[in-house]
Amino acid sequence: MDNFIDLVRQRRSTRKFMETTISPDLVAELMRAALMSPSSKRSNPWEFVLVDDAEMLKKLSLSKKHGSALIEGASLGIVVIADKTQSDVWVEDASIAALIIQLQAESLGLGSCWVQIRNRRDPEDKDSEKLVRELLGIPEQYGVLCILALGMKAEQKKPFDESKLQWEKLHLGHYKK
Ligand SMILES: Cc1cc2nc3c(=O)[nH]c(=O)nc-3n(C[C@H](O)[C@H](O)[C@H](O)COP(=O)(O)O)c2cc1C
Repeated sequence: MDNFIDLVRQRRSTRKFMETTISPDLVAELMRAALMSPSSKRSNPWEFVLVDDAEMLKKLSLSKKHGSALIEGASLGIVVIADKTQSDVWVEDASIAALIIQLQAESLGLGSCWVQIRNRRDPEDKDSEKLVRELLGIPEQYGVLCILALGMKAEQKKPFDESKLQWEKLHLGHYKK
């Protein structure tokens, strides 16, 4: 893909994946990009837990009431966490890293979907962050932002339809209703 804008247009959430594994080289390329993510004061509070074990992916797929089942079919889950003691803007730092991984995945021909964990609860009303921390042995001081589900795409989605761009969200000079 030649242009950044094409990459942005092409990236759509993938929720159906092929059973193939992602090669270690591609995983390294994903993480190479993630580790270049900007962060406030270059504090780099983010860390990433890479999960490819099918049993663990199944457990993680149950971490929310809605919208996490797709993790079970993914080849790789990247759990995006950040040390809350390192940054008061860890959510922003971790979100940027997560999106960079998603764009890098698209540029490598992989599909991805963001599964929100922070501020979510599991079917038994347990805090999803706590559940994921317990499953993966993540220390208490880490916030769990999301799990990125990744794999080879088993569904093809149309690129973003630019006729739906919400230009009305722009306010030139000052806010206009
Ligand atoms: C902060 C955030 C949380 C999201 N959480 C979920 C989720 O828990 N489960 C899911 O299937 N998709 C989730 N998504 C994906 C959105 O549903 C998706 O990006 C949106 O519908 C637009 O579709 P597109 O990604 O195909 O352009 C999330 C996306 C963002 C940015």
